[in-house]
Amino acid sequence: MRHLISANELSQEILTELFKRADEIRENGKQYADRLKGKIIATLFFEPSTRTRLSFDSAVMRLGGDVLSTENANGNSSATKGESLLDTIRIVENYADAIIIRHPDNHSSSEAARISTVPIINAGSGNKEHPTQSLLDVYTIYKRFGKIDGLKIALFGDLKFGRTAHSLMELLNQYQNVEVYCLAAGDLKLPEEEYNSHVLPNITFHECTTISEVPKEINVIYQTRIQKERNDGIACEPIRIDKKILDQFSNEVILLHPLPRNDEISPELDDDKRAMYFEQAKNGLYVRMALLTKIFE
Ligand code: CP
Repeated sequence: MRHLISANELSQEILTELFKRADEIRENGKQYADRLKGKIIATLFFEPSTRTRLSFDSAVMRLGGDVLSTENANGNSSATKGESLLDTIRIVENYADAIIIRHPDNHSSSEAARISTVPIINAGSGNKEHPTQSLLDVYTIYKRFGKIDGLKIALFGDLKFGRTAHSLMELLNQYQNVEVYCLAAGDLKLPEEEYNSHVLPNITFHECTTISEVPKEINVIYQTRIQKERNDGIACEPIRIDKKILDQFSNEVILLHPLPRNDEISPELDDDKRAMYFEQAKNGLYVRMALLTKIFE
């Protein structure tokens, strides 16, 4: 593994290896404390972030490496003076052994990887990809059910601009017989031309128009936020999940959300055993540590 640009680069074999390593790191982090000793990792974030940037920074430090971090590269880097992303990469590659990028352009990470002499990790590109988020999402599902094959997963919310939902489907397609039930907030529907069973043959897609159409025995509900920063006035009505709605499903269902949330999940669910979104975010640290060790092997 050199770069990680898209979730579709992660085969089931690599996923299994990363999940196993994430488990090992979780159980015995000390064993990995020097893995990145002597390495400097740059985190270049041209969009806001709490979880992804800080968990990557923490992951590098816990592996014994050092971090160069820009939390607002759009406002505080030479991008404000008109420097292109590629010129920034040509400079930062001299200072760092890998570059982790979040950027509003869909092709930002792939373009960076085309010219970079050091590994590039995509930490969110436009509305298209967020591969490390999907890694922690699938890891969380795998830990709960012990498998991905044959699971029924409901995607709620902004399926048009939500990059986490898009990358999640790319990863689910690495498994067998996954059923995905899509319940979009209003017109924020999944781009059908990109996400269908011809392009992703291991997924069967179902479109739902109301919560009552989502099967009771669903295994996972993956709720998402309306991406207001990308929505050009498209009609949408957020789907709010509270206890009454969650109780319509099996006791074994898990509720995930990439976070941050607005009001699409009621805080009354935060202590409910079915609500796993905070555990999901915590898992991000371990899978990102696992990924970084793999990149530098
Ligand atoms: N899930 C996620 O990407 O969160 P941040 O925007 O806080 O990084």
